[in-house]
Amino acid sequence: MGSENLAYALTQVVHNFGAVGVLGGALFALWPTLRLEYGRTFAWLILVAWGMQIASGGLFGVTSLFYYGETPDLSRIALAALSVKVAAAMTGFSLAAFYLYRGRAWSRVSVKRTFRSLAALGAVALTAAAFLRWFS
Ligand code: HEM
Repeated sequence: MGSENLAYALTQVVHNFGAVGVLGGALFALWPTLRLEYGRTFAWLILVAWGMQIASGGLFGVTSLFYYGETPDLSRIALAALSVKVAAAMTGFSLAAFYLYRGRAWSRVSVKRTFRSLAALGAVALTAAAFLRWFS
């Protein structure tokens, strides 16, 4: 029981800090003042944060499998929320990676739009996270 609680708690620590990085990184690049000259630094932070979310999110499932032999029995709404989070995470990770790969040639407007999209994806994922607690 102790090791199970510790495994969930440590995974949740990574997941919480990843959530901060995903949304905070994108917001801080845009507000209160535009910091696009540090766009690549923010993008690396955001890329790592999305990666942390994907890895720790998967680890939640692996931990359940290890201790119970099955993944949690989610309601339809919780399952839909999880799908939204997974889709947001894959899109956010890909967008940050694409910007790091090609973004040097992009206009300021495009870079700003990219960070706005990354912030929106983070907000969607965080909102969806709350609906994981929807039990049937
Ligand atoms: C592949 C992507 C992801 C997967 C598979 C995933 C999976 C999970 C799971 C299984 C839980 C429930 C843990 C538990 O209580 O047992 C959880 C919680 C949470 N996730 Fe994710 N997640 C992903 C991405 C994200 C993203 C991108 C964010 C935010 C930016 C996020 C934010 C949260 C938060 C805040 C919680 C805690 C919710 C609560 O306890 O009320 N997750 N996640």
